[in-house]
Amino acid sequence: MASSKDLPPWNIPFFPNIFVKNQFCTKPERPPKTTDLTGKVAIITGSNTGLGFEAAKQMLELRLSHLIIAVRSSAKGEAAAAKLRAQFPKATIEVMLVDMSRYDSIQDFVLRVESQLSRLDIVILNAGLMKLTYNAVPDTGHEEIVQVNYLSTVLLAILLLPILKSKSPTGTPGRLTIINAALALTAPLPTPKGHKSLFEALDDPKLFPAYSDKQYNASKVLAHMWAYKLVDYVSADDVVVNLVCPGFVKGTQLSRDVSVFVKPVMALFAAAAARNVSDGASTYLDAALVKGKESHGSFIMSWKISPYNSFLYTPEGREAADKLWQETMEQLEFAGARGIIESMKKQ
Ligand SMILES: NC(=O)c1ccc[n+]([C@@H]2O[C@H](COP(=O)([O-])OP(=O)(O)OC[C@H]3O[C@@H](n4cnc5c(N)ncnc54)[C@H](OP(=O)(O)O)[C@@H]3O)[C@@H](O)[C@H]2O)c1
Repeated sequence: MASSKDLPPWNIPFFPNIFVKNQFCTKPERPPKTTDLTGKVAIITGSNTGLGFEAAKQMLELRLSHLIIAVRSSAKGEAAAAKLRAQFPKATIEVMLVDMSRYDSIQDFVLRVESQLSRLDIVILNAGLMKLTYNAVPDTGHEEIVQVNYLSTVLLAILLLPILKSKSPTGTPGRLTIINAALALTAPLPTPKGHKSLFEALDDPKLFPAYSDKQYNASKVLAHMWAYKLVDYVSADDVVVNLVCPGFVKGTQLSRDVSVFVKPVMALFAAAAARNVSDGASTYLDAALVKGKESHGSFIMSWKISPYNSFLYTPEGREAADKLWQETMEQLEFAGARGIIESMKKQ
C-alpha cells in the first residue's frame, strides 16, 4: 500500500462527498482477534474521556500491560483510571499529568516518561480541542487551538521520538499516532499575507475565523504538512509515525464550547451522521497497531492510507510545508527540537 505522499491527490473535489464516503460507505475494521499487547507499554494523551478513553479501553481489552493516562487534570485522570482498573485489574494503569497548553508541563512530562519507564511501545497523541472563540495561551501568546492541536502536539511528538526509538524492543519500531481530522482536507494551507510568519498570521485575532471550525481545520492541516516533512528525518525502522482521522464521532466532548443554540442542531446532525465512539476509537488501534511501516508519515482515514490535503501535491503546497517546518523548528528551538530531529537521522 502506497504512503500518502506516493498516492495521487483526491479525485473527489467536493468535501461533502468525501464526508459521506467516510461516514456511510466504510465498514469499521477491528484489529485481528489474535492481537496481543501483553508486555507492551502505551501512553494516550487526553484519555480521561471521549475517544482517548475508549481507545485505552480497547487496548486493555487486547491485554495491554501498562497504560499511561496522560491528562491535564489529576481528578479526571484518576476517575478514568479507577474505571479502567476495575475492568482490567491485571494491567498497570497510571495517571501522569501533562497540560498541552504549557511547554514546561510537556517537557516535565517527557522527563518523567524518560526516567520512570523502562519500556515504551506506543504513543497516541489524542488531546485536542475545538473552540469557536479566540483565546491566546498566556505562556506562549499563541492562539489556543493552534497551540494545543499543533505546536504542543508536535513538540511532544519530537521529544518522545528518541524515547520510542530506544525504549521499544530491538527490531520492533516504536509507534506514534497523532489524531487528525478529515476536516484538514477542507482547509487551505495557511499562507501569511502581510505577516512575518505563518504563526503570526494564525495568532492574529483579526484573522481568527470566529464562530466557525476553520481554525480547528487549519490546526489539523498543519500536521499533514509536518508529517510530509518528518519522513525525511525519521526512519520507519525506528518509529512509525502516522496521522489518523476517527471520522465524525458522537458522544465525545469535542463540541463542549459550542453555543447552547447550536448544540441541538449539532446533536441532530450527529444522531444522523456520526459514528459511535467505539467505531471511532477503533481507527486509533488500526493506525497504531495494525498499519505497518507503509503508513509512516501518512494520513489514515476510514481505515485506509489516504491522500493528504490536495494542496500538498502542488509546488506551492510543498513550499508551504518547507516554510512551516522551518518556522516550527524555530518555535520549538528552546527545547532542542531541531537537534533531536537531526539525531534521529543518524544510525
Ligand atoms: N469527535 C470527533 O468527531 C472528532 C473528529 C475528528 C477528530 N477528532 C479528534 O479526536 C481527538 C479527541 O477528541 P474527542 O472527540 O474525544 O474530544 P473530547 O471528548 O473533548 O476529548 C479531548 C481530550 O483532550 C484533552 N485536552 C484538551 N485540551 C488539553 C490540554 N490543554 N492539555 C491536555 N489535555 C487537553 C481533554 O482534556 P479535558 O477533559 O481535561 O478537557 C480531553 O481529554 C481530538 O484530537 C479531536 O480533534 C474528533
